[in-house]
Amino acid sequence: MDEVTLNAPAKLNLTLDILGRRKDGYHDLKMVMTSVSLYDRVSVKLRSDGRISVHVPGTDLPEGEDNLAGKAARIFFNAVKKNPGAEITIEKKIPAQAGMAGGSSDAAAVLRALRMLLCPDMPMQQLEILGEQIGSDVPYCVRGGTVLAQGRGEHLTDWPALPACFLVLCKPDFGLSTPELFARVRVENIRRHPDHAGMYHALLHGKLSEAADQMVNVFEEVLTLSEAEELTKIKLVMKQFGAKGTLMTGSGPTLFGIFEQQNDAQQAYEELGRQYRQTFLVQSI
Ligand code: C5P
Repeated sequence: MDEVTLNAPAKLNLTLDILGRRKDGYHDLKMVMTSVSLYDRVSVKLRSDGRISVHVPGTDLPEGEDNLAGKAARIFFNAVKKNPGAEITIEKKIPAQAGMAGGSSDAAAVLRALRMLLCPDMPMQQLEILGEQIGSDVPYCVRGGTVLAQGRGEHLTDWPALPACFLVLCKPDFGLSTPELFARVRVENIRRHPDHAGMYHALLHGKLSEAADQMVNVFEEVLTLSEAEELTKIKLVMKQFGAKGTLMTGSGPTLFGIFEQQNDAQQAYEELGRQYRQTFLVQSI
């Protein structure tokens, strides 16, 4: 076997809290993330010339090691002291810079694929540790599922899964820079922190509405007026069609709504899809 193709799922934040700024420039976080059925397809083929190439057809995303997927291959080869090289092809479905960890998930899929191809006995935990060198969300993306992430994002604890539901994702057309959003936050000014005990209780008992009520992302407090207005408009549409809860994921700007009924989610998806090109209807996985 010299080639593997894997699904790289998008993630959503059910919570995102910022606890403080660290000396290394990062922030200590506490957040619950969950994987959903929106996937990039990542193919990894071993080469024999030591080169790492990345192709993302139809996009202007970087090729080679400037792409997180290429960086993942380099870090993996260094760790296992083998360097056949890799040809990576990514069929992109997850919008880039949207708060859904698309690039991190592609990188995690490259790590998983290279493990399958070159050292299937490597413990998954070692793969998560390699992920830390690539980006804060990569360890989570290696693991997937519903997880509490702390520290920079690399301390992971498995949590009870988000109950089966339908999710509408909608990415407005403006972009938000992650470092800029972090810079806007003053931890002492955060008005509402997520209640993680409450979220855990809701998930443990499979209570979707209660989990939806507990969704908080502190980045929503530092949006500018015009950013917030646009997101509020989308939230209102989702709520009008019966969303149990709505939230911005990660550092945005994608919003998602949680629905119990497929029909309600379908209607919200169609309505938002008329206004926003990047609208998706997915399920929890
Ligand atoms: O780790 P990653 O490269 O994905 O992080 C991107 C940026 O997000 C960092 O440069 C930093 O500005 C910010 N960040 C942070 N604290 C974290 C994770 C990310 O400040 N825990």
